[in-house]
Formats: sequence, C-alpha cells, structure tokens
Amino acid sequence: MSILTEKIKPSATLSINTKANELKKKGINVLSYAVGEPDFDTPKHIKDAAIGKILEGKTKYTPTGGIPELKDEISKKFKKDNNIAYSADEIFISAGAKITIYEALLSVINPGDEVIIIEPYWVSYPEIVLLCGGIPKFVRTDENFEINTDEIEKNLSSKTKAIIINSPSNPSGAVISEKTTRKLADIVIKHNLYIISDEIYEKIFYGNFKPVSIAALPEMKERAITVNGFSKSYAMTGWRLGYVGAPKDIINEMKKVEMQTVSCIPYFIQYAGVVALQGPQDCVEEMKKKFEERRDYVVKLARKIFSCNVPDGAFYIFPNHSDYSKDSIRFSGFLLENAKVAVVPGIAFGENFNKYIRISYATSIENLKTGFDAIEDALKKFKQ
Ligand SMILES: Cc1ncc(COP(=O)(O)O)c(C=O)c1O
Repeated sequence: MSILTEKIKPSATLSINTKANELKKKGINVLSYAVGEPDFDTPKHIKDAAIGKILEGKTKYTPTGGIPELKDEISKKFKKDNNIAYSADEIFISAGAKITIYEALLSVINPGDEVIIIEPYWVSYPEIVLLCGGIPKFVRTDENFEINTDEIEKNLSSKTKAIIINSPSNPSGAVISEKTTRKLADIVIKHNLYIISDEIYEKIFYGNFKPVSIAALPEMKERAITVNGFSKSYAMTGWRLGYVGAPKDIINEMKKVEMQTVSCIPYFIQYAGVVALQGPQDCVEEMKKKFEERRDYVVKLARKIFSCNVPDGAFYIFPNHSDYSKDSIRFSGFLLENAKVAVVPGIAFGENFNKYIRISYATSIENLKTGFDAIEDALKKFKQ
C-alpha cells in the first residue's frame, strides 16, 4: 500500500459509532454518545426545497466550486455574521467542511511543511495534514482548554506554514476569546503564515461566547482560510455541504483539485443551502436552545462522577476520568461493555488527553439520564 495512506488512521469517532451500531444490530441496547452530529432532523423547508429541484430535473453537473446563487448567499452570510467581505471569487463550495480543509491545505503546503494543530484537536486535522504531505506539530491548551500563544511561538520553525484553529472546539467546546484571536493574528502576520479557521460550530455557542472570525481582523483576510458548512448549524450532516472563504489565488488552486476529483456538488444540495441561508433562522436558534439545556443538564450529571469543564459551544463535554483510570481506551471499553454507553477515548484527540473522554450531548435529556445512571452504576465495580 502507499506510504502516504499507510500513515493515515481511520476516524476514531466514526469507528466507535460503527462498533456501537454493530452491538445494536446484535440486539444489545447501546446508547451512543460518540457521534458528532445533531440528533435533530433537517428542517422541513430545506428538505422540500431540494426535493422540488430534483423533481424539476436539476440533476446535472454544476460549476466546480459552487453555483452562483449559493456563493451569493454565503457572501452575504459572511458579511452579516462574520464581518468579512468575501466576493464570489473568494468563496468555494464542496462536499462538507472536511474536504475543503483537505483541499485548502493541499493548496498551501509543500511536502515537509509543518502545520500547528491545537491539542485537543478534531481527529481529522493531523491525518489531513499527513495526507497533504505535511508534518503536524501539536501545541496543547491549558487545563481550561485555552490556547497559549507563547507555546505556539515556541513551536514555530522555518518550516511552519500554517496554524489550524477550531472555535467552538470539538472536542473541548472551548471558544477562543477575542484577545487570543488577536494574539494569534499577530503571530500569523509576524511569521508570514496561513491560518485555517474551522468555524463549523459557529452557531452553537452559549451566553456571550460568540466566536470571532480571525479573517475579520486587520490584515488577516489575505492570510486566513475561513471554513464553514451546513452540517452542524442546520442538522445537514448527510447532505455533505461545506464552504470556505479565502484569497482568490488559494480558491483557484482548490478548484483545480476539485475539478480533477469531485467535479462538483449536486444542484439540489446546493439549492438546499441557499434556502437554509435565505430562510427563517428560528430552526437554528431552537436547536441551539435545546443544546444549551442539554449542556447544563449533562455537565451537572458529569460533575457527580468526573472533573468536567463547562463548554461554551459545540455539543460535547470532555471530562477528565483520571480518578478512575489514566487510560482512555481501556476506560471507554469498560463503559461500552458495562454501561452499554459508547464514548470516544480522549487519546483520539491528542496524546496528552489520555485521561479524558468525549461525550456528545446531541441526544435527548432522557437518553442522557439513562446513560449516566448506567455509567454511575457500572463505575461502582470499576477496578483501577
Ligand atoms: C471540528 C470539525 N470540523 C469539521 C467537521 C466536518 O464537517 P462536515 O460534515 O461539513 O464535513 C467536523 C465534523 O464532525 C468537525 O467536528
């Protein structure tokens, strides 16, 4: 097999979910807190819009990089929500945020270039960097999952080309403060780097913790690649629709990759995106409200057992289980076997997080109660 793909690990979160589904098929009642997708259905007006376009026969190839109607809506969205003025030729649409991160990195790094990844990180970042021929360099956050910009500076080398940030973060739920965002911008400018800002959980933040887009800061638009998509905000994970805003020369490179691989995204899917952005946004607010209620509930439950930070965004808690075990794989295996609850071991999000598990609260309050009762019960017999 290729040395490039041999280096790549399968996605830990998708693998655990598959394991939980296999147990379910055998008739074992497993509750999965491992999955990273909203449990809500895609809003009906969005589904109807796509169905309408299929029936109209809008089922042919589309322009690589996105249809003008959707680029136009995304451009307005960037201006309104993020205060960034991206024109249509600075916007690129593809099959989910994940592939756009790959295409963007492929466009800006050369083999051997280093990319700074903040730990704990979303499981796909290191693998995407490796797939692009780059070298991931990890910089860990503090116990409150806050980024230490001095640590980033210490880890820069002549080969560093880019930094990837994610706010709100998967898995920690931390939102990067405006002050830290400004410090990050200073580093990027001073060292002539790119920054990939993954803003996929942008709409799911609580209280005053609205994330800031780094591309909106002075001199940053030409250095930032702003990644977003429909998966989390509009409960559209299976539609595979994501986008980036970036300088035109990067977009042109990304387009070449897309042309020779994916070609284009179906019209009816992109039209669903147009309707999602143009239509009423109450569905987004309602989902966020539900997530907030669940966050408050699950943090209370988790704190009876673990040490657990209060996340300011996304739909995960990332508790520390070191009172029980320092091995997250063993601990997650124990929970699956004894409590019939699937969680993701912290080591999947970075070597330094082997005493943590990620629990997704994109599930009902009833499911959270049932699972945490079972966890509490099972832990009575846990032996170190
Ligand atoms: C931080 C982060 N970025 C990107 C993605 C992928 O989003 P998409 O479904 O648009 O590919 C995910 C999905 O779990 C994620 O957690």
